[in-house]
Amino acid sequence: MWKKLAIASLFAVSSSSVWAADNCKVEVGASDAMQYDKKELTVSAACKEITVTLKGTGKLDKKAMGHNLVISLEKDKNTVIAEAIAAGPAAEYLKAGSPLVIAATKMIGGGESDTIKLPGSKLKAGEAYAFYCTFPGHLALMNGKLIVTK
Ligand code: CO
Repeated sequence: MWKKLAIASLFAVSSSSVWAADNCKVEVGASDAMQYDKKELTVSAACKEITVTLKGTGKLDKKAMGHNLVISLEKDKNTVIAEAIAAGPAAEYLKAGSPLVIAATKMIGGGESDTIKLPGSKLKAGEAYAFYCTFPGHLALMNGKLIVTK
């Protein structure tokens, strides 16, 4: 049983490194100090699949210090935030099905994580994209630039 698991995980590691193209996998930490550990993310529109992982590096519960990572065009950021606040805590501060949201993790607390995947073709090289947290009051500190290369 253990041997089988070890072999399976070895295969998982080696196959993911074989398939990994440039900038198709990014990881962002989010802390109890209401901050991401990155101000910029760079991904490529040529990625078959872009994987974004958000990790809660703190200890606080998501009800007190929730973090998500939402991707939209920079110009849509304020509208997405307004929709998120209107959607409220029951919706974990994200309007379901908003066409302005390109991708979004769920809301997480300390010690939790969430991973989202989107095709690189959903993004256009050179466009101005943003990533940010829609928890009320977090936008000012928790926002960054998503740079999309060819
Ligand atoms: Co937050």
